[in-house]
Amino acid sequence: MQFPPDIIRLLRAAKNIAALTGAGVSAESGLRTFRDAMDGLWAQYRPEDLATPEAFERTPELVWKFYAMRRLKAGEVKPNPGHCALAEMGRRVAHFTLITQNVDGLHQRAGSEGVIELHGNITRVKCSRGCGVFTEWDDAPGSVSTCPKCGANLRPDVVWFGEMLPPRQLETAMAAARACQVFFSIGTSALVQPAASLAYTAKQHGAAVVEVNAEVTPLTASADYFLQGKSGEILPELVKWVWG
Ligand code: OAD
Ligand code: ZN
Repeated sequence: MQFPPDIIRLLRAAKNIAALTGAGVSAESGLRTFRDAMDGLWAQYRPEDLATPEAFERTPELVWKFYAMRRLKAGEVKPNPGHCALAEMGRRVAHFTLITQNVDGLHQRAGSEGVIELHGNITRVKCSRGCGVFTEWDDAPGSVSTCPKCGANLRPDVVWFGEMLPPRQLETAMAAARACQVFFSIGTSALVQPAASLAYTAKQHGAAVVEVNAEVTPLTASADYFLQGKSGEILPELVKWVWG
């Protein structure tokens, strides 16, 4: 695989790199992306019908079951070479910030540290009344687990459509976009705000934007480099070329 020589020089010289990932980086692990149609039992639903506070209010058992299925699936799959390449980049670059929209926890399992989870993480649940976040809970087969403190329904610790992103994580991601010399946008359709604005913030602050994606997105025209293809193939090659 060939890369433009100036991207190699740029990455070797960079002291501060930020990367935003989306569902495409987990596709080669076997997890569906959002733009993939859902299959089987869930084919009758759109993600928007299951991933909203209203849906949870209306049918908590269905939403709880949907996330239990996704949590199980995420636990069954493994990080792919794209996740591992990003963990390696984090070890080789002086200051590397990994920001993800994914909730599958695969970056952490690949060894990435300090991952900024803009949309939460399905391996955690939280009290729907705000008592706290839990990584362990008593499963109530067939119904929704309840908060050990107040008895209210527990819910996945993820951002649903129409909800605010966790402010601290968003501010850290914005600061990383402003400070970096290179900003990667990897495996994301670059459609959902505010995550999709990070690349433009980086560009406005002088960073080079490198997009690694299977298809063209609204960001592609503004990117300095567009490496089209699978992140699980491109990223390991790029890390090898740049950092040996
Ligand atoms: P999408 O499904 O919107 O986009 C995935 C992108 O990855 C697409 O552009 C694909 O072309 C690309 N892709 C697929 N396989 C790939 C591969 N092997 N290598 C590289 N690229 C690949 O997923 P996201 O952009 O992550 O928000 O979606 C962003 C947000 O929209 C999600 O976090 C979710 C959803 O609403 C919330 O849940 C709040
Ligand atoms: Zn509670």
